Amino acid sequence: MSEKLPLLDIKENTLHFDGVNLVQNIAAKYGTPTYIFSENAIKQNLHDLQTAFTSQYSQTEIAYSTKNNMIFDISSIIAEEINFFETTSLAELILVEKLSQQNNKPLNLISTNLFKPDGLIAQIINFGSQSTLDAKNNKMSGIIAIDSYQDMKNVERIAKKLNKKAKVLVRVNPGIQMSREKTIFASAYPDAKCSTIIKDIQPIIDLSQNESIDEWLLKRTHSPKYDFAERIIQEAEESKHLDLLGIHGHLGSQVTNIDYFHHFFEVITLFYKLMEEKLGRNFTYLDLGGGYPVQYSKTEQVPSINEIAVSLSQNISRAKIAPHLIIESGRYITASGGLLLSQVNLTKENPSGGKIAVLDMSAYGDLLDVIAAKWHFDISLVNDLPVGTDSANKFNWDLVGSTNDTLDQLNPIDNSDNLDSDLRSFPRDLEPKDFVVIKNAGAYTTCFNSNYCGRPKPMIVLIEKDKNIRLINRNYW
Ligand SMILES: Cc1ncc(COP(=O)(O)O)c(C=O)c1O
Repeated sequence: MSEKLPLLDIKENTLHFDGVNLVQNIAAKYGTPTYIFSENAIKQNLHDLQTAFTSQYSQTEIAYSTKNNMIFDISSIIAEEINFFETTSLAELILVEKLSQQNNKPLNLISTNLFKPDGLIAQIINFGSQSTLDAKNNKMSGIIAIDSYQDMKNVERIAKKLNKKAKVLVRVNPGIQMSREKTIFASAYPDAKCSTIIKDIQPIIDLSQNESIDEWLLKRTHSPKYDFAERIIQEAEESKHLDLLGIHGHLGSQVTNIDYFHHFFEVITLFYKLMEEKLGRNFTYLDLGGGYPVQYSKTEQVPSINEIAVSLSQNISRAKIAPHLIIESGRYITASGGLLLSQVNLTKENPSGGKIAVLDMSAYGDLLDVIAAKWHFDISLVNDLPVGTDSANKFNWDLVGSTNDTLDQLNPIDNSDNLDSDLRSFPRDLEPKDFVVIKNAGAYTTCFNSNYCGRPKPMIVLIEKDKNIRLINRNYW
């Protein structure tokens, strides 16, 4: 696939997704609210991601971050294309095992998370050992990203008990100064809860060619006693029960400031080099986590995946290292692969002259990100679209969910009382029975949603590559 698919286009005054008429083929058959995923769109995103990174640095593996969408049929589309998965729980590990069996393909997993129960650690260490695919000399690996000193000790204890060596990466936090307001899911900021902080930044500053590097890094005024990356790396290297494969880092999710990527890549590649020099050997992996952003609204400024990949490869060559790279990604692969289709139940006036459309969905049950993460999704009218009115978006409506709850609105509540920002523009006025579609709804949404107010969770359907439409719902395995 080299050309971008026209994923959303208008035919016969109706919005189509991946060639499928959303009114006739989805709403009429499955009702609403319904999530619709497209196999073609997911594959396209994965292909774009892979091409961006491998064209800059060929030794790159994409790892799918299952937590963002662990529906079996979605993960299965992805498992056909890649060999690595990033997981955080036993349920996700079992999913990867099943995907491997189903596809008759050895898959590797990297298990992150700040706490891992003993049973999970044992399963990761043993991951793939029962698989008949081992016979093909293509072993599956379970790799653990160590998140703290105690986490390392737990992994070491379990590996010793199993009389094995656990494959580990040490997850480090470069302490990049980031605006938490603008990057709500930031992770590698100075006092983040995940990962181990790099204690000694002076050698990194000395090696850096960037004059402002020290402004971007935390001034280490407090010196951690044991929870710091350098010590954990040294002890992991010396442990009889740990096989230290490299370094892991994760900047955050939906990071939209390219400078954060530049700094993260610079610090982590230089740290990787310094640690290789200190241990006197080369590591195997540099895992750079996820965070590769999606453009949610027309006005949002988002760096392209190519810009990010160029920055990464430049930093790798400047640091003169040659790791196997792992790029973990969830959102970039699934977000635009999924839409949420909803119908207007009724319309009403509000006392200040505004117009409210009550949808058949609820933000709690169907799109919790709006409340939990104040996410602004782009929403379009689906049916009876006026001809040639692409640019004439002048009918303003306030879209709300159908529970009594104040937070149940399609725009996050704006505490500044800015009424305009609560409105959505459409090419004509909305009416009961109209359909609207929420774009880029494929990432995180289907796993966040709750059953608040006794509402069932929405249907989930998949448009397969041959345009067959299939109900997939939340089947995890
Ligand atoms: C360690 C780790 N890797 C990867 C991801 C996936 O991030 P994204 O979905 O933004 O690519 C996350 C999510 O925050 C994460 O915590």
